[in-house]
Amino acid sequence: MGYKLEIEPTGDVVEVQEGQTILDAALRQGVYLPHACNHGLCGTCKVEVLEGEVDLGDASPFALMDVEREEGYCLACTARALEDVAIEADIDEDCDARSIPVKDFMGTVIESKMLTPRILGVWIELDEKIDFQAGQYINLHVPGFDEPRAFSLANQPSTQKIIELNIGIIPDGEATPWIHKNLKVGDRYKISGPFGRFFVKRSAQKPMIFFAGGSGLSSPKSMILDELENGCTKPITLFHGARNQEELYYADMFKKLDEEYENFRYIPVLSNNEDENWSGEVGFTNEVAKKFYDKFEGNKAYLCGPPMMSEACITTLMQGRLFEKDIHIEKFFSKA
Ligand code: FES
Repeated sequence: MGYKLEIEPTGDVVEVQEGQTILDAALRQGVYLPHACNHGLCGTCKVEVLEGEVDLGDASPFALMDVEREEGYCLACTARALEDVAIEADIDEDCDARSIPVKDFMGTVIESKMLTPRILGVWIELDEKIDFQAGQYINLHVPGFDEPRAFSLANQPSTQKIIELNIGIIPDGEATPWIHKNLKVGDRYKISGPFGRFFVKRSAQKPMIFFAGGSGLSSPKSMILDELENGCTKPITLFHGARNQEELYYADMFKKLDEEYENFRYIPVLSNNEDENWSGEVGFTNEVAKKFYDKFEGNKAYLCGPPMMSEACITTLMQGRLFEKDIHIEKFFSKA
């Protein structure tokens, strides 16, 4: 049995099935609601219930405090409608966002190989093509684990049915060690997506600076390949930080693109300054970036990597006169 879910201030109306979360219903019908963890933990999906009754589900008391419950708020990722419902969400209009409904897909692993000692590259051929914006992520349903794990798509949308995931191992995590040990060619996996609002803000028509660290290279790889394929003429710079040369993956591909495209510049940066065979940049990406830019004003910056890297980059960018509206951070939370 389904209920009507009305979403203000956009006035969108979607159908929500009994037992389905409000967030799932909206995203599957192509209506965006803010979200990050999808599991009642972060509070990003908090909405006000204007009419109708909902079951709050498993919302963490930190993400949804008692006073908010009393005032009629719920978390869209855990709340389920018990009748027709109207909610008010804090939706910021983004003219670069395409409305792509979230769907479930099945796919077969066609290749897997270590890209660095810690990052496994996995290629999955889906049974049907997935539509997404470069920079978005999917949920991978891992056998034996209740919650799916989120990974950015490292391929660009033109690869059609074949998706690439770069899966960094978190040694004290659960699913990533399992995937590194057990995933093999021929396995079938369920994925859902696409999710997230991290993508190139094309309407801004500004040069782009990407900062990537660790397996955070996935989204920049997808976004840069997509931009170049689509004839972008704006300058694009990628600062890729890694500890050592072994961890600097896809370096040859980016070097080649740097030679091939006048508007693309690749700047790999090693934080380990003891590598005698390295003549490139050394230090942290944000510090190195200062050598290439007098000021950052007039650009769009995209940050993908560990929180410490993002924080350092934000400070440097702001000191260089680039502010919040032009700094975009890849944000999603997933269990390891
Ligand atoms: Fe709902 Fe995090 S609490 S997305």
